[in-house]
Amino acid sequence: MAANEEFTGNLKRQLAKLFDVSLKLTVPDEPSVEPLVAASALGKFGDYQCNNAMGLWSIIKGKGTQFKGPPAVGQALVKSLPTSEMVESCSVAGPGFINVVLSAKWMAKSIENMLIDGVDTWAPTLSVKRAVVDFSSPNIAKEMHVGHLRSTIIGDTLARMLEYSHVEVLRRNHVGDWGTQFGMLIEYLFEKFPDTDSVTETAIGDLQVFYKASKHKFDLDEAFKEKAQQAVVRLQGGDPVYRKAWAKICDISRTEFAKVYQRLRVELEEKGESFYNPHIAKVIEELNSKGLVEESEGARVIFLEGFDIPLMVVKSDGGFNYASTDLTALWYRLNEEKAEWIIYVTDVGQQQHFNMFFKAARKAGWLPDNDKTYPRVNHVGFGLVLGEDGKRFRTRATDVVRLVDLLDEAKTRSKLALIERGKDKEWTPEELDQTAEAVGYGAVKYADLKNNRLTNYTFSFDQMLNDKGNTAVYLLYAHARICSIIRKSGKDIDELKKTGKLALDHADERALGLHLLRFAETVEEACTNLLPSVLCEYLYNLSEHFTRFYSNCQVNGSPEETSRLLLCEATAIVMRKCFHLLGITPVYKI
Ligand code: ARG
Repeated sequence: MAANEEFTGNLKRQLAKLFDVSLKLTVPDEPSVEPLVAASALGKFGDYQCNNAMGLWSIIKGKGTQFKGPPAVGQALVKSLPTSEMVESCSVAGPGFINVVLSAKWMAKSIENMLIDGVDTWAPTLSVKRAVVDFSSPNIAKEMHVGHLRSTIIGDTLARMLEYSHVEVLRRNHVGDWGTQFGMLIEYLFEKFPDTDSVTETAIGDLQVFYKASKHKFDLDEAFKEKAQQAVVRLQGGDPVYRKAWAKICDISRTEFAKVYQRLRVELEEKGESFYNPHIAKVIEELNSKGLVEESEGARVIFLEGFDIPLMVVKSDGGFNYASTDLTALWYRLNEEKAEWIIYVTDVGQQQHFNMFFKAARKAGWLPDNDKTYPRVNHVGFGLVLGEDGKRFRTRATDVVRLVDLLDEAKTRSKLALIERGKDKEWTPEELDQTAEAVGYGAVKYADLKNNRLTNYTFSFDQMLNDKGNTAVYLLYAHARICSIIRKSGKDIDELKKTGKLALDHADERALGLHLLRFAETVEEACTNLLPSVLCEYLYNLSEHFTRFYSNCQVNGSPEETSRLLLCEATAIVMRKCFHLLGITPVYKI
């Protein structure tokens, strides 16, 4: 092992490599035993623990081994561990746990290197090269509700984390731009605006209101209903007049969606349901030729073990549906786009749909039989957004929550809080506005991401905009305070980065340093388990470690000033990277 061991980004994996060598030396007859290394739960057990001795003992005890028990196996593993700059000491405790203490010097050096080379050098490299993240995906002319907000926020974060981890991500907006509702919308458009060509967004006004009005008419007026049904046939048959009207309605919706994405700074490429239309027939034919598709009550379905109902892929009128489109989109993503990992972000209510068409794809041999090996598909489900009354989230005035109104309110409230603290007198109006936006939108995003995504969460402005506790406001302020400590030192931090030395002598400096070095490992875990909350927890703990360090270690004016300023800077850099991955804009003063 090289004496000068560089930090490769994942402490756990780096240590596991050392233990792999020692396992092969200690028990050469058991080459398939994998090293088991994990972060220690408590400081008294060191920084990491290797947990191989007990398991290994149970494998070898009946085979005439020289070892007397698990602790002896542990001792042998420690003895044959290659010397490495990263390890300070190793000891065997209890029934054979190996406690590893990392070298503070090595840790400090690794942080110094990051300060020079940038935090991207810590980025993990996942084994997959290209992924699709299918997220946001609202439906044309229907409301873009808080469920779509959750999908947008969670999907964007997953995409960002994967991109950081060297994965090429195709960010897909699987917009609901096809289906029978368009017959009714188009007929209503013709009725209201006979001169369809010149209809503008402003003339139609709110598309949701338009949708409701056309639905109302559809439900009450038989003649209209009939016309709407014929319109669907014409549209699907490719009638240019109907296609044009359809395109117009889609365009108006798209402009609305784009405003939300721009505000949230989320990038997406639209490949809506209609995009896959030209491929559906051949994909269903492929499934048919594999013997998967059967006739049932006039429809064509796939029967799947473990499900009470079959998956319908062709309706009795010969039309395709949500499932046929999703199967085709999956086929396209695997074969045309060569994606190895396809991730779908929707509410948990759609879980059955995903489980069913994933199963059909496995039956067709498109995918392996589990959701861990590649090509891999995962449904990232999330819970409901609840109002403070515990019921489904609604606003007073309308029965749906408009996303733009939510974002407006978050910004207004955070601006008021800043004005209350006198910031309007200290800052320019632009600074005030930008900070209010960063804090307001950041608060909405973080409140969503910090929860385990599967649980329902209560939307509360009061809670998310609180500057204490686990909120974006608290974290953004914490970052701004670190920046101010650095500014107040009067030192040129970029110069210090090049020449200054960092030491982790104090216990709180060391704990902070160790947490910093666990960043990449955390991102990797958040990616593989598709859990943004893991990164939020890391970020919150980082700010707690910093607080402890700052209250116990004097920075400015102390003999350790240079080293401690560098530690402040490293913390600020990693915090900013976390914000970036969570889609939150950092602020530098507060
Ligand atoms: N448009 C759907 C909805 O609003 C979500 C689509 C999710 N993506 C997919 N490939 N099915 O519920």
